[in-house]
Amino acid sequence: MRIGILTGGGDCPGLNAVIRAVARSSFSHGHEMVAVREGWRGLVEGKTTPLSPRDISGILPRGGTILGTSRTNPYGMAGGVDRVLATFAETGLDALVAIGGEDTLGVAAKLYADRDFPVVGVPKTIDNDLSGTDYTFGFDTAVSIATEAIDRLHTTAESHNRVMVLEVMGRHTGWIAVMSGIAGGADVVLVPEEPETVESACERLVRRHQQGKDFSIVVVSEGYELSFASGERRLVGGEAAASDQFGHVRLGGVGHALAQEIEARTGYETRVTVLGHVQRGGTPTAHDRVLATRFGLKAAELVRERTFGRMAALQGDSIVDVALEEATRQLKRVPQAILDAARALA
Ligand code: F6P
Repeated sequence: MRIGILTGGGDCPGLNAVIRAVARSSFSHGHEMVAVREGWRGLVEGKTTPLSPRDISGILPRGGTILGTSRTNPYGMAGGVDRVLATFAETGLDALVAIGGEDTLGVAAKLYADRDFPVVGVPKTIDNDLSGTDYTFGFDTAVSIATEAIDRLHTTAESHNRVMVLEVMGRHTGWIAVMSGIAGGADVVLVPEEPETVESACERLVRRHQQGKDFSIVVVSEGYELSFASGERRLVGGEAAASDQFGHVRLGGVGHALAQEIEARTGYETRVTVLGHVQRGGTPTAHDRVLATRFGLKAAELVRERTFGRMAALQGDSIVDVALEEATRQLKRVPQAILDAARALA
């Protein structure tokens, strides 16, 4: 078989580990690999090159993606889908492995449903918001980086008696905020799933300081809507003008808005750190390397069996496959039990 492989959407640590696993496994079964450059754009614009064993050597610990990525949506452009199909046929491909999140896999699911396109998916995102899989790779690395940031903020916060606000990514779910908040012992964690009001968060900070603590750590997820007792809610940074081809608004900035509110309401000196793309860069954790490798091996197996329209997934300790459609049907939000754990010791 000649197997194409692409990575789409925001990059994350572990993409290269998946590419390596898919390619190595496929080479060992006598198949050829083709690199599709920059996500779906590679098939829309005909950007493909052969992928050799040499190309994948030494990439396991490397962050980013050797294939490049983009947020191109073939369904969002005139003739996009036909160009995808044309490039696929002209390159002589028999199958495609699409590594991506909600958007990239959403296109894969649609192509499979509408055009019987021979595609297999691998779930990637630091946000961990894909259904059908317990975890996506890249998430553990992002949580580790955010946790280290909280640890570092603790020492400077206590030296200066300050409130430190850490803004993390996660889009419309609070997985990174909640998990790093628990791991780092944050005092307040604000997420989209449970939009606590600013007043209530400030009351908790004041209570903590009255009990003798003179510093606090607040973790806020970029998709948390600034919520007030009056019922007002504000999504910061969600300007439609900055939306991508999939219609997603660009988030960011809630940390600064929140810090102003905290300082004004409590009088405590407050500082902000926006972790930004640091949490998506660099080498994957051992956990993500293992998960990415297992996903890649499963994807290669599904291709060999010609079991298309499926996605490799983690359920418990097992790697299984689920329908692409199931994986992209709805966002996986943080369950109440984990939200409660973040609150229990704060
Ligand atoms: O989906 C991954 C993610 O990092 C989100 O957490 C974040 O909102 C978005 O991508 C940032 O996108 P960009 O890299 O285009 O700024």
